[in-house]
Amino acid sequence: MKESKKKLHEETLSVREQTPRGAEREHSTPIFMTSSFVFESAEQARAMFAEELPGNIYTRFSNPNTDEFVRKMAALEHLEDGFATASGMSAIFTSMAALLKSGDHVVCARSVFGSTHQILTQIFPRWGIDFTYVDIADQYNWQKAFKPNTKMLFLETPSNPALDIIDLEYVGKICKQANVLLNVDNCFCTPVLQKPADFGADIVIHSATKYIDGQGRALGGVILARKDLMKEIRFFARHTGPALSPFNAWLFSKSLETLEIRMQRHSENALRIAEKLQGHAEIEKVIYPFLPDHPGYALAKRQMSAGGGIVTIIVKGGIDRGRRFLDNLEMLSHTANLGDTRTIATHPASTTHSKLTDAERAAVGILPGMVRISVGIENMDDVLADIEQALKASV
Ligand SMILES: Cc1ncc(COP(=O)(O)O)c(C=O)c1O
Repeated sequence: MKESKKKLHEETLSVREQTPRGAEREHSTPIFMTSSFVFESAEQARAMFAEELPGNIYTRFSNPNTDEFVRKMAALEHLEDGFATASGMSAIFTSMAALLKSGDHVVCARSVFGSTHQILTQIFPRWGIDFTYVDIADQYNWQKAFKPNTKMLFLETPSNPALDIIDLEYVGKICKQANVLLNVDNCFCTPVLQKPADFGADIVIHSATKYIDGQGRALGGVILARKDLMKEIRFFARHTGPALSPFNAWLFSKSLETLEIRMQRHSENALRIAEKLQGHAEIEKVIYPFLPDHPGYALAKRQMSAGGGIVTIIVKGGIDRGRRFLDNLEMLSHTANLGDTRTIATHPASTTHSKLTDAERAAVGILPGMVRISVGIENMDDVLADIEQALKASV
């Protein structure tokens, strides 16, 4: 077959980007379950170790399945290069630890995933890396937190689970001016809905465990960045060992083939759920970035192509009602994951964020009756019927 030189559209690339066919002429990429790769000569081994020749040496460094996954993700995120990791947290940790040193300072949005909070507050201070949190209300005042030793700004948008929206264009500009690296956790949107690098992000990380897998099967992550930054990140990752398994990389690469249609469907369904539940007698508030009453609505419309699959509701009756609501669900899954084809409900105050004090939860907008719904791709009439009956039964 002739090799095409045409630049492919992103949906096509997600389907067609593929490891070169092997001797068996397979149509679908096989899984390269091998720890290492054979050298053809002593000279080839020397040259590969010296990085004079490209090619796979050892799966902790690279593997055809992880490479295929990374090539697709880098193209979708408009970044040059990447490294696939065993979890979203290893992507976050590696992207920070590889580029920071003792004496550096990180500015971070206050509303970030719980384990990211633990890295900044419990682990990095032991190594002399300091941080400052910035509240969503202060999002046009990041500079107040900048110090001469600020090296990186880290954020999530929309945030988990309060769905705060941060202005990526603004933050991209001020990071450039201050020579601060902008690192964005793009887990909730995926590159289908939002491309932080288009607004100036230097690094984008993902928990592939969520929408990228999309079916709640496998843990993984990926770091994407410019080539010069990836050189430092790859050095750190090769020698500290957070590499993704070939099997999980194969799953994720296959899942990327349907990411675009899944994200569209998740978003359509989530908007429908949000609109239906708005004004419900048993619900205090519905939070969804594409509802016009969301404080970040205009921003979300500007930087996201659709609202995403997460809807957060605040049920009337506080923490006990929230728990009763979860206990009364018949079909929705009660589990700590998100981004699945199946609709999932979680009660952050009694689970994912239970270790925070009431004041800490309030500071990141987590209210006692808050329930996070990761809207799946089932028929939404069934999902709404289950929510409705659980609201009634939990009064
Ligand atoms: C926004 C966000 N970032 C990072 C992570 C961590 O990812 P993982 O569980 O794959 O380590 C999560 C997991 O829930 C998340 O929601």
